[in-house]
Formats: sequence, C-alpha cells, structure tokens
Amino acid sequence: MKKNILILGIETSCDETSIGIVRNGRDVLANTISSSANIQREFGGVVPEVAARKQLDYILPTLDLALKEANIEKINIDAVAVSYGPGLEGSLLVGLIAAKAISFILNIPLIGINHLEGHIFSPLPDFPELSPPFLSLLVSGGHTMIVDVEDYGVYEVLGDTLDDAAGEAFDKVAKLLGLGYPGGPIIDKMAKHGNPNAISFPRANTGKDSLDFSFSGLKTAVRLFYEKNKDNFKIEDIVASFQEAVVDTIITRVERAVKKTGKRQVVLGGGVSANSRLRTKLKELSLKLGFELYLPSLKMCTDNGAMIGVIGYYYYNKGRFSDLSLDVKSSLSL
Ligand code: KG4
Ligand code: ZN
Repeated sequence: MKKNILILGIETSCDETSIGIVRNGRDVLANTISSSANIQREFGGVVPEVAARKQLDYILPTLDLALKEANIEKINIDAVAVSYGPGLEGSLLVGLIAAKAISFILNIPLIGINHLEGHIFSPLPDFPELSPPFLSLLVSGGHTMIVDVEDYGVYEVLGDTLDDAAGEAFDKVAKLLGLGYPGGPIIDKMAKHGNPNAISFPRANTGKDSLDFSFSGLKTAVRLFYEKNKDNFKIEDIVASFQEAVVDTIITRVERAVKKTGKRQVVLGGGVSANSRLRTKLKELSLKLGFELYLPSLKMCTDNGAMIGVIGYYYYNKGRFSDLSLDVKSSLSL
C-alpha cells in the first residue's frame, strides 16, 4: 500500500478561492487562499455574480501557487476533493468544474465534500490525536449548528439556527452600524475597546432545553437601540454588548449540549470560530465542565481548501468517491 496519500482540496463556495494540499489527512503542505472580499467590500456584501467571476480569475493561479508551496508535481496527487455545497451556485461551479477536469486528466478519484464537513474537521491538522466521536460547534456566515459527530461522514444535528446564522448577525449589524464588510473581524477588533456589559441586549430564548439558536431579534434590537441612542453611547460599547449577546447565546447551547450528550470533546469550526471573545468564553466553559476543547488555528477558521483535503482523505480511505456527473447543491445540508 502507498504510504503517503496526497489530497488536493478545492474550496470555492463563496468569495474565497482556496486550494489546499494535505498529506494523510493531517499535514497541510499548502493552503493557498485568494479572496475577492476587498472587491465585495465596495458593494457592502457578497455579490454572487462578482464572486463567481473572481473565482474564475483566481482558480488556476491559486492552483499553481499551491503546487509550488507544497513543492509537488500534479502527477503525485492521489485524489481531488471539492466542496459542492452549500454556497453560491456560480462560485461552487468554478471549483467543481476545475476538480472534474483535474480528476479526468490525471485519472484520479473525485471526492465531493459538504462544505460544512470541511469546517467540522478543520482543527484536525492542529491536533494529531483528535478524531471522532466529538461534538462540533459550527459557526459560520451561513450556519450555526451543534453537531454530534459519530464518525467521518456520520452526523446528527442537535441544534441549528431558527433564523440568521451567527456570522450573518455580525455582518448585518456591522452593515447597519456602517462599519463595513465582513462584519465579524471588524466588530471583534472594535469590541476589545468597549464594555460588553454596557447594554443588555436580548438573548433569544428558543426553549428551556433547546440547542437551537436565534439571532434575528438581537439584530433588530441593536438597530432600534442605535437609532434611538447613537449620540449617547460609544460605538465600541454597542458592538461589545452585541458580541457578548451572541457569544452568551452560543455558550449556553454548548453547555446544554455537553451536559445532555456527556461528550468529552468539543471541536470548533467555521469563520466565527476566529472570534476572540467566543474562544475565551469557550476555554472558560471547558475548564468549568471539564471537557477537551479543540480550537482551529486562525487560517483554518476561514473558508479554505486544506479543510476540504482533510475530510477528503477519510473518504478516500473509505473509497467513497463521486462520479463525474456530480452537480453543485447550493443548499446542501449535513
Ligand atoms: O466560514 P466562513 O469563512 O464562510 C461561510 O461558510 O459562511 O465564515 C464567514 C463568516 C462571516 O460572517 C464573518 O463575518 C465571520 O465569519 N467572521 C467572524 C470573525 N471572523 C470572521 N465573526 C466574528 N468574529 C470574527 N473574528
Ligand atoms: Zn464556510
């Protein structure tokens, strides 16, 4: 049996074009990311058609860069894994067609990956001893979920958002406060200079034992508060208090999920996992409840190709390949 398996991971679900090269599911040899976020910034959010066209511009140069970074030849790649949903259709199509071409030309397996699985397993390269079963807290621009991960490819969604995703709430609040896009990193930075207890924004009650989330009421509360009080409060205090409400909501659900399932490993994934306040509060919770916490490195938090290559390796081992008729699914669920 061949000892080292190299998986090329392609991620193009939104405004990042990323190619990762991963050895044996754990060693990230390359993780090249080209982003059109600064172009999207001018529009105040992602314009799907612009994102798709930028994917087309970036995909081949990004592939070239990744091969150089990993210092390998195309011919050494064993399989190509690609996220085929959820995400923006036009953007996903660019990655998928590139993956199909590579699979066809090099005569190697094509492995379709759910983008959300990429996020779930994104901390694996940082923690060689980590493997399922574990609880995943998946917080991104499009999703907010607590998932019971039994094995690679075996999931039970325990909690989901009833309306906006956590990242979406950050982005929408930043937009309504005129702070720019994407909102998460901007608010995270500003909140460091604000008082998280200055304003008591509502924490949505989705039910006593519920593991579900809801953020749209919070967003409206921030809007109404801002319209009424913008001259009396520091913007830093408003965003710090908003962030605290999001983080509190998440922490309550994680605490319930750990107590309910008895799982001893909690793994964070998705763009919002870069949030410094969330990381601090999760560490505190892990000490309080005594579970092991696995936080992805910052480069693995955002959308990236390496995370697709990580889970791609486990599907490669299972022989779970896709055929060339694979299509994108913009609202693919877990
Ligand atoms: O996972 P991701 O890169 O794309 C999706 O799959 O959605 O997540 C992007 C989201 C955006 O909403 C962005 O504002 C948020 O992650 N985000 C953050 C931070 N960095 C990125 N949210 C809060 N704090 C951050 N530091
Ligand atoms: Zn994502």
